[in-house]
Amino acid sequence: MDGRVTTYLITGGCGFIGSNFILRLLREHPQARVINLDKLTYAGNQDNLREVADDEGYRFVRGDICDGALVEDLMHEADYVVNFAAESHVDRSLMAGDEFIRTEVYGTYTLLEAARRSPKLKRFLHLSTDEVYGQVGERQASVETDPFRPRSPYSASKVGAEMQCVAFVETYGLPVVIARPANNVGPRQHIEKFVPLCATNALMDEPLPIYGDGRQVRDWLYVEDNCEALDLLLHEGEPGGAYNVGAGNQRYNIEVAELVLDILGKPRNLIHFVEDRAGHDRRYCVNFDKIRALGWSPRHGFAEAIEKAVRWYTDSRWWWEKVREGEFQQYYREQYGKRLAEARPYAAGPRP
Ligand code: NAD
Ligand code: TYD
Repeated sequence: MDGRVTTYLITGGCGFIGSNFILRLLREHPQARVINLDKLTYAGNQDNLREVADDEGYRFVRGDICDGALVEDLMHEADYVVNFAAESHVDRSLMAGDEFIRTEVYGTYTLLEAARRSPKLKRFLHLSTDEVYGQVGERQASVETDPFRPRSPYSASKVGAEMQCVAFVETYGLPVVIARPANNVGPRQHIEKFVPLCATNALMDEPLPIYGDGRQVRDWLYVEDNCEALDLLLHEGEPGGAYNVGAGNQRYNIEVAELVLDILGKPRNLIHFVEDRAGHDRRYCVNFDKIRALGWSPRHGFAEAIEKAVRWYTDSRWWWEKVREGEFQQYYREQYGKRLAEARPYAAGPRP
């Protein structure tokens, strides 16, 4: 490492996307020094970064982004900030939304407030989501100037965080850039999320719970493609700008589950249709011409993205078996116990 060290304050780096991003930073930017501020909620997992835990350029700080004094201290060292810290699972926001509001809204505000007093901060990249637009119609694609229409406590909390960012851009000229990625998939994603849940349940020959009719549409973005986009936005995004990050991989959920089973050589009758999620957004789809114009485009198509993700779970049983043993058991019972008891069987058939 030469004398020109660049310090990146990363929040929520023990989670899925944050850990992939930190690994990328340390790999791609030899001058990077990373401070990872993470509270280690149920979703934070130190196994995610064990390969860099002893690196000279990496420092872990266990703490809360709502802790103003701690955040102010760390912010003084930062050239760049990336805010991944969040409660990220829609289903949990339907059980209890409090922590979502606290972390997303108050936590983001706390970071911004420290950032505006920071002596050398160049850019603050905030992680939002394509869910801020709410569901879109069949041939629609959200553009960055579209209005927010959040429909879950999760997505509403993400809008709250974005509005804090906008306030600090307008009031103090803070160089905040906002990213709105689609559904990520890939290594180290918590097994509560759809693809890891399908993969790990299939590996154990347990049912795959599909909400409603399974005809909801998500756009599947490989996490390393997203991290490449975030790296670009952090360094070259227009201050005050928001950028969609999509993949062009829109598929019905049922198609995703079928592909996971095919990859693993498991029977389709593991699929079980269960009671739908309340307020379930039918379709997300973003137009991402704006980030394309900066020179980024996704490298993974649908099948490749899902296949690489599923293979990681096949090869990383040590990682997810530990997660399954913990608080996840109670969550799973609450979320799926009654649903699976009343499930409808799989029937292959024509799709609209
Ligand atoms: P994740 O749930 O895997 O990780 C979140 C991390 O934040 C965890 O390590 C957790 O310990 C930490 N954290 C939570 N509250 C904290 C607090 N108060 N202080 C400090 N740390 C805290 O989430 P993810 O999937 O990696 O998502 C990262 C970000 O990207 C989130 O802001 C999410 O809304 C956004 N996003 C995710 C996706 C996706 O598909 N996963 C898509 C679009 C946007
Ligand atoms: P999820 O991974 O929770 O991401 P998000 O809700 O943020 O898009 O879910 C992806 C899709 O899969 C979503 O339409 C809900 C659906 N889903 C199921 O059908 N069954 C499940 O058990 C889960 C967790 C999700």
